[in-house]
Amino acid sequence: MNTLRKTEEFYKPFETEKHQLNNDVMDELHHEFLDIYNSVDTTNIKSFQEKLTVLLAHSKKHFSQEEELMDAYGYPTSKEHKDEHNKVLAEMQYFLDLSRTLFGQKMLKAYYMEKIPSWFDLHLLSMDSDLAYFLKKVQ
Ligand SMILES: [Fe+2]
Ligand SMILES: [Fe+2]
Repeated sequence: MNTLRKTEEFYKPFETEKHQLNNDVMDELHHEFLDIYNSVDTTNIKSFQEKLTVLLAHSKKHFSQEEELMDAYGYPTSKEHKDEHNKVLAEMQYFLDLSRTLFGQKMLKAYYMEKIPSWFDLHLLSMDSDLAYFLKKVQ
């Protein structure tokens, strides 16, 4: 069935090799992030708006938990990491604000489908893996 195929193509799995950082707190947050991300109904434009709202709330929790770890253990590049978190939260809020019009909803959908997955991969491979590595040494 066409709808099912579409959903399967869209699905972004948790890839152990790429995404697992061997920090229990962070790994759980990242699993949760993808669970929310994948629960979107790609056939319904309103669903992107709903899921981005949930993803924004979850990301606030996700980022503040990482930032608590940075502060607790004196992580040296916390400023850059926190700036990146704040940039993403502002971006999500921007697209939610934009989604009051149909044009804005289409922009939000494009952001959700194209930008978020590549951001997630890059952030985990760079900043989050560096933080997890640092925590392994000090915890
Ligand atoms: Fe993270
Ligand atoms: Fe992070």
